[in-house]
Amino acid sequence: MIKIEKYTSLKKFNTFGIDASAQQFGLVESVEDLQNFIHQKQQTFFILGGGSNILLTQDIQGLVLKNEIKGIELVEEHKESCTVAVGSGENWHQFVLWTIEHNLGGIENLSLIPGTVGAAPIQNIGAYGVELKDVFERLEAVHLQTGELHTFDLNDCQFDYRMSVFKKKYKGLFFITKVFVKLSKKGFHQININYGAIQKILQEKNIQNPTIKNVSDAIIAIRSAKLPDPKVLGNSGSFFKNPIIEQNHFLKLQKAFPDIVFYKVSEDQVKIPAGWLIEQCGWKGKTIGEVACYEKQALVIVNLGEATGFEVQNHAQKVMDSVFQKFGIVLEPEVNII
Ligand code: EPU
Repeated sequence: MIKIEKYTSLKKFNTFGIDASAQQFGLVESVEDLQNFIHQKQQTFFILGGGSNILLTQDIQGLVLKNEIKGIELVEEHKESCTVAVGSGENWHQFVLWTIEHNLGGIENLSLIPGTVGAAPIQNIGAYGVELKDVFERLEAVHLQTGELHTFDLNDCQFDYRMSVFKKKYKGLFFITKVFVKLSKKGFHQININYGAIQKILQEKNIQNPTIKNVSDAIIAIRSAKLPDPKVLGNSGSFFKNPIIEQNHFLKLQKAFPDIVFYKVSEDQVKIPAGWLIEQCGWKGKTIGEVACYEKQALVIVNLGEATGFEVQNHAQKVMDSVFQKFGIVLEPEVNII
């Protein structure tokens, strides 16, 4: 049964550390509890995972359901790979550590990403050359109006850069309960160390044939050096997506800013790191009141202590305005603003 509390502070449930509250709050520990609840109440609610990709700009007037569905289970085993089913309320990084401990490969590059397993498919989390979609097999989700359990395979999810069907036509319609990933077994790992910073660390440690544990450790070191720990400084990782612009626009910018950092994504499209754009506008380390752009990675907006969601949103808007003025590029938040 789901026990409902009244007027609960959400401060410890969002990594930005914003002190908003929920009018009603309950923990979901099983699929059955959720289904029973939907059948009895027919009430709309807001689902909270690890709270690592949201900015709360107001109190939530309805019911907040916090996902606590746990469990990690090996469900299928083949010669080279196996399928693992994970409860959506598991912490993502703890799950990555579990895979390393069991010598299962595929998500070591996604070490130390905050949030829950259930949130991972919603925005197709990605880092250091790997995205969730690369290991994703299927997921189960409860329809929030009918209570029915649905299965979504790779195609159904329509994954793209920080995007899935759960941010588009099924936004707010499903509660993801279980995620199935396909991982490689010992001897069949495909190590991905194309990212320069990973190679640098491995070289420094004189590691020639890295294990998945070596890669995970390298990523943990890189992230810890560049990204603020939400327990110390409230934040939601990258605040904006890296914008993709047309080649013509890019060529004009490159003339004016010869040092512009870019990645070609297709014949006529180029991706520009938002962190670079923001730094060029003078925002890196810049503080207004209780909010700042992080001094080591301008793309991360941090709560210096007692910021409200509204102040963070204002800060983000100012950053967007200056990037648009200087480069003619519209930055799009990666964080869900509520
Ligand atoms: N840069 C700057 N100034 C900055 C930050 C970045 O000039 O303050 C430039 C640098 O040239 C750097 C380049 O931007 O080489 C790229 O920066 P970085 O390697 O830190 O990666 P990113 O593009 O800023 C993306 C993801 C991160 C992910 C890293 C590594 C997005 C929105 N962000 O960041 O994901 O960890 O790549 O793969 O795609 C997240 O989504 O919350 C997140 C942290």
